[in-house]
Formats: sequence, C-alpha cells, structure tokens
Amino acid sequence: MNKTKAYSAPSATSPLSGTTIVRREPTEHDVEIEILFCGICHSDLHQTRNEWKEVMPTVYPCVPGHEIVGRVARVGSAVTKFKSGDTAAVGCMVDSDRTCPECQVGLEQFCPNGTLTYNTPDKHLGGVTYGGYSDSIVVDERFVLKVPPNLNLAGAAPLLCAGITTYSPMRHWGVTKGKKVGVVGLGGLGHMAVKIAHALGAHVVVFTTSPGKKEDARRLGADEVVVSRNADEMRKHAGSFDFILDAVPAQHDINAYIELLRRDGNITMVGAPDKPLPVSVFGLIFKRRSFSGSPIGGIPETQEMLDFCGAHNIVADVEVIPIQKVNEAYERLLKSDVKYRFSIAMASLKAE
Ligand SMILES: NC(=O)c1ccc[n+]([C@@H]2O[C@H](COP(=O)([O-])OP(=O)(O)OC[C@H]3O[C@@H](n4cnc5c(N)ncnc54)[C@H](OP(=O)(O)O)[C@@H]3O)[C@@H](O)[C@H]2O)c1
Ligand SMILES: [Zn+2]
Ligand SMILES: [Zn+2]
Repeated sequence: MNKTKAYSAPSATSPLSGTTIVRREPTEHDVEIEILFCGICHSDLHQTRNEWKEVMPTVYPCVPGHEIVGRVARVGSAVTKFKSGDTAAVGCMVDSDRTCPECQVGLEQFCPNGTLTYNTPDKHLGGVTYGGYSDSIVVDERFVLKVPPNLNLAGAAPLLCAGITTYSPMRHWGVTKGKKVGVVGLGGLGHMAVKIAHALGAHVVVFTTSPGKKEDARRLGADEVVVSRNADEMRKHAGSFDFILDAVPAQHDINAYIELLRRDGNITMVGAPDKPLPVSVFGLIFKRRSFSGSPIGGIPETQEMLDFCGAHNIVADVEVIPIQKVNEAYERLLKSDVKYRFSIAMASLKAE
C-alpha cells in the first residue's frame, strides 16, 4: 500500500484541506497513475457538501474528483492496454461487476454493482473510494481511458465527466446535422455540450441566465443565445426544438423549456438539483414530448467521445488552478463564475 497526498472535505461544512490517503499496491490488472490534472465538477461540490444526502449520502472524509488525466507510473503484470509513461485518464467509474446485462453491453454506468471513483465502497481496501484530488490513483485497466495525443491535458481532463455526460444523451437522442438543440446553463457541462453539439452539426441555441456569457457562447459554437430570464426571447422559440439538454444544478422552471420542444421533442436533465422539479404534465401530453435524465456514460462510449474530441480538436476551456485555490473555486462555481471549467494542476499538491 502506498501513501499519497490528497485534498479532502472532513465534513459537509468544512473547507477542503490537505491530507494523506492510502492507495492499494497495483494488482495484476491495475494501472497506477500519477495524476497531472483533475477537473472540478459541480458534482464534487454537491457531494462534499452532502447535498445529495437523500440519494447518495457522503461518507467523510471525502476526496472528490472524477475528471482525471495523468501519466502511468506502474502497471500490473497482466495489463496490456498501458505501459509506464503513457498518458491515461479516469472518469466517474473505477469498477463494475462486468457480468450483469448492462456491463455486457458496455453500459457500466447502469451496473447495480458499480464502483464510482469516489464515495462508494472500496472493494480492495474497505471504506470508500477516493477521487482525483490526489497525487495518484490505482484503477483496473478496463476503467482507464486513452487520451488522443493532440489534446491539451489540462483541457482534456473535464472530458472525463463533462464531456461524456453531454455526449452520451446527445448520441442517444439522435443529435445530428439539421437538428435544433438547446443547451441550458453555460457552465462546465453546458460549454462542452455546445462544442459537441456544434461538432455533430446541430443548430445550437444556448440558454443562459448570464447576459455576459453571450459572446462566449457564440465563440464556443452556439448559433443563437437566449437570456432565459427574458420571456419574450424565450417565446420566440416555442415548439421548435428537437432536443434540449439541461445542465442546471439548482431549482429552475423546467416547464418553460418543455414548451420550447416540438412534437416528440425530448428534454434531458443532466443537471442534478437536490430537490424535485415540478413538471407540467400537459406540457408533455399535448405534443407527445418527453422529459428524461441521463448519467455519465459507459466505458466504450467514453473512449468513443475522447476519440471524437481528438478528431475535432475539442477540449474544455479551462482555468488552471493550484489545489490550494479549490475552496475559492467552489464559491465561484456557486456564482456561475467559471470560464468554463476549473482544472487543478495536481503538481501543486507536492508543495503541501
Ligand atoms: N447527470 C450526470 O451524470 C452528471 C454529471 C456531471 C455533473 N452533473 C450535474 O450537472 C450540473 C451542472 O454541473 P456543472 O459542473 O456543469 O456546473 P457549473 O459549471 O456550475 O454550471 C452550471 C451552470 O448552470 C447555470 N445556473 C447555475 N445556477 C442556476 C440557477 N439557479 N438557475 C438557472 N441556471 C443556473 C449557470 O449557467 P448560466 O450562467 O449560463 O446561466 C451555471 O454556469 C450539476 O448539478 C452536476 O452535479 C450531472
Ligand atoms: Zn462530474
Ligand atoms: Zn454490471
């Protein structure tokens, strides 16, 4: 077993601070990765503050982080996909049972016995898993991804959650050339959704509460931008969308977006507010619209997304920060003040 430096939240109300955790000695199928960058997902904030306590209560201390890119340090004797020195990435999952019907079709995100990268029982060491706000991580090679060599690593890290979480539902709901696609909330997930939808050839409309993000939205690939607090601007798009991806982490009026869908249109929630959202059933009935949700994506699709991003030269727009600024970054996330993902340079942890 190996000691590694990390940042953890000791409780729901205390700031994250430096600590030391233990990683297992790599088994024959394991890859040990020295972490170079880890993105900050709004889910890290929800979970360190125990905002999802009704669904997945947080176990403390909690080491968050599931947008991990690094360099392979060591590999187990049976590892074939990676060798020491390779670039490697880990997303939101580190294991699953591999035998259930979901795993057999590469949809490990639905495995009833899956292991998330942090805050789920650790089969090897007991306790819970610890995420990427740390020096290193040890993961079975099946859950380790390859990063296309042309991608900047600080910007590639957020693809491992924000990228796949937006790519997967867009593929599932048939976002292609000629489709009109809405993206609600221009944060980490939202800005990836814009880039990916644009690369898929869709007509992309961003809905934002921040008028100051209008120009950025266009630069990122939006064809139109709507300030969602302006009811007149919203009404102009009534009944016109094939698909809307909603990435808002807080309470908001979902019915205003359902009204913008055409017949058989779908709105998918990837944003995960802690409280239920009231949905107008008549809004769904009248145009046979559907309202759904989507979690991350399976391992094969995550690799497909990374390769797609490699082919289209897509990475997140990142503000690289040292780990010592993580608490400040969380406060800025709450104010929608991030352009458009924080990526932690994990070398900064060595100074702790
Ligand atoms: N389903 C999954 O598997 C999955 C995976 C990852 C993350 N998530 C969830 O997705 C959500 C977004 O994550 P993120 O990392 O993209 O967060 P983020 O970077 O904080 O972005 C959220 C954006 O939503 C908008 N927003 C924030 N508060 C709002 C409010 N009260 N009303 C309306 N709009 C608001 C803001 O955009 P504007 O300034 O443009 O309005 C903000 O930038 C979180 O709930 C996270 O937990 C889910
Ligand atoms: Zn995430
Ligand atoms: Zn399974």
